[in-house]
Amino acid sequence: MTKLEPLNSAAAAFLSRVEHGLLIDGRETPALSGQSIDSFDPSTGQVLTRLAAGGPEDVDRAVAAARAAFEGSWSRWTPYQRQLLLIRAHDHLSAHYEELAQIESADMGAPISRTRAMKNAVLQMILFFASQAVNVTGETMQNSLAGNVTTLTLKSPVGVVGGIIPWNGPLISQWWILGAALAAGCTVVMKPAEDASLSVLRVVQMLHEIGLPDGVVNVVTGTGAVAGARLAAHPDVDRVAFTGSTATGRRIIEASAVNMKRLQLELGGKSPDIILADADLDKAVPGAAMGVFTNSGQVCFAGSRVFVHRSIVQEVTERLAAHAAGIAVGHAFDSTSQLGPLVSRAQLERVMHYIGIAPAEGAQLAGGGNRPEGSPAGGYYVRPTVFGNVHNDMTIAREEIFGPVISVIPFDTVEEAIQLGNRTEYGLGGAVWSRNIDSALQVVKSIRTGTMWVNCYGLIDPMVGFGGVKNSGYGIKGSRAHVEAYLATKSVYISS
Ligand code: NAI
Ligand code: MG
Repeated sequence: MTKLEPLNSAAAAFLSRVEHGLLIDGRETPALSGQSIDSFDPSTGQVLTRLAAGGPEDVDRAVAAARAAFEGSWSRWTPYQRQLLLIRAHDHLSAHYEELAQIESADMGAPISRTRAMKNAVLQMILFFASQAVNVTGETMQNSLAGNVTTLTLKSPVGVVGGIIPWNGPLISQWWILGAALAAGCTVVMKPAEDASLSVLRVVQMLHEIGLPDGVVNVVTGTGAVAGARLAAHPDVDRVAFTGSTATGRRIIEASAVNMKRLQLELGGKSPDIILADADLDKAVPGAAMGVFTNSGQVCFAGSRVFVHRSIVQEVTERLAAHAAGIAVGHAFDSTSQLGPLVSRAQLERVMHYIGIAPAEGAQLAGGGNRPEGSPAGGYYVRPTVFGNVHNDMTIAREEIFGPVISVIPFDTVEEAIQLGNRTEYGLGGAVWSRNIDSALQVVKSIRTGTMWVNCYGLIDPMVGFGGVKNSGYGIKGSRAHVEAYLATKSVYISS
């Protein structure tokens, strides 16, 4: 048995608590129903702790706290004060980052090497939003009105934001919401995923440690069907930012009708990763492999359909399988693990189901497809898997698997690759590998998606952002447009 890294004392103290309450109005509180749900360690399948199961009445009191804070002293915080709060958050999280990395790894199973390596990404995102706090501008416009009329727009925070996020990386993904809300002057109720809520609870505690006023950020843990649904339908929530499945995204849209909530939705994907005949395979093969296997495939923009020119498809399939075979899969706290377990038993069963049905539809298993030998019993492990000879209409090429499974799909011409790449309900990510800039740009321009990478995969900078089209949702994350979406615009006409 490999030696596991020990928890540091802060993470051990947090993780050893038998139950974690809700965070409402700056205080920890049990669910009013008294109920809680088990939270599992994916590396072992053991119960890690328990989370308060927030009910509709708990969401209501969290929203009331957020509304009171929005209308109270928080509304008088200046942009520089909010910027300074975010800078202090950056410094505090930087000092306590190891604790957060360990909490995240224990909770959702990402290897400690990965959660540690995300430090810069988390901290830079906070810095990005700190910069946006002092970059909110309206406009003055000319007009053709009679008389002497001055026209301009004013910006104000939209109000109470509901943040509903998934389990695949809450340590970072919560910041897309917290950062924008704090920069814009909104208040928040977060509903993290039942499979990974702990880093959200700990981060929001840390924000209170550096002077976040009570009620500005509240956390209601619990199930999506109960707590999430109430938040999405709450008449006093002005905006919902949601990341998760397309099916749940549809429910969020329906629920938003109650008060015309503004929405940002980042939903499922089945992104095309297109390797042209002239690609540098020494870059394309590991790039395409990690474009899917990263975070055990639990990535919304995973390039899970790898289109390969027929002249090189056999070589690429073999090299992808060899790459997959070389990846170390194991316990999140084994520092040699490159991939950890999947987040839950349900996800493991889902991924194994897709792996199981693929051969019957004609896909050829080129590598993986099984549980790793020697990994801890009870954990939710699966080996990175490559299927060759996949057709774009097969189930594994159509549906989001959200696991470490690559479908290699051959093509003959660039036009065919574009056509097949676009034949999907989704439009989140995508990539092209080529030494020819003309062919690469042709693909970039022709794929209907929110984000394209050329000779790389999965790079994200909040300054640039990314978004989705089609059933992958709408509303960009990152860039100035992101904070803009947390602001309301008022048109003003001044006659003088
Ligand atoms: P999900 O979309 O149901 O859950 C995401 C979040 O929404 C969680 O916090 C959940 O509690 C909440 N939620 C669930 N039902 C809700 C409702 N009716 N109203 C409001 N909130 C609700 O996704 P789940 O069940 O965790 O995973 C299932 C599949 O969804 C995955 O296998 C994957 O294919 C996809 N998924 C995609 C993600 C992405 O980033 N593209 C992230 C997570 C899941
Ligand atoms: Mg967990």
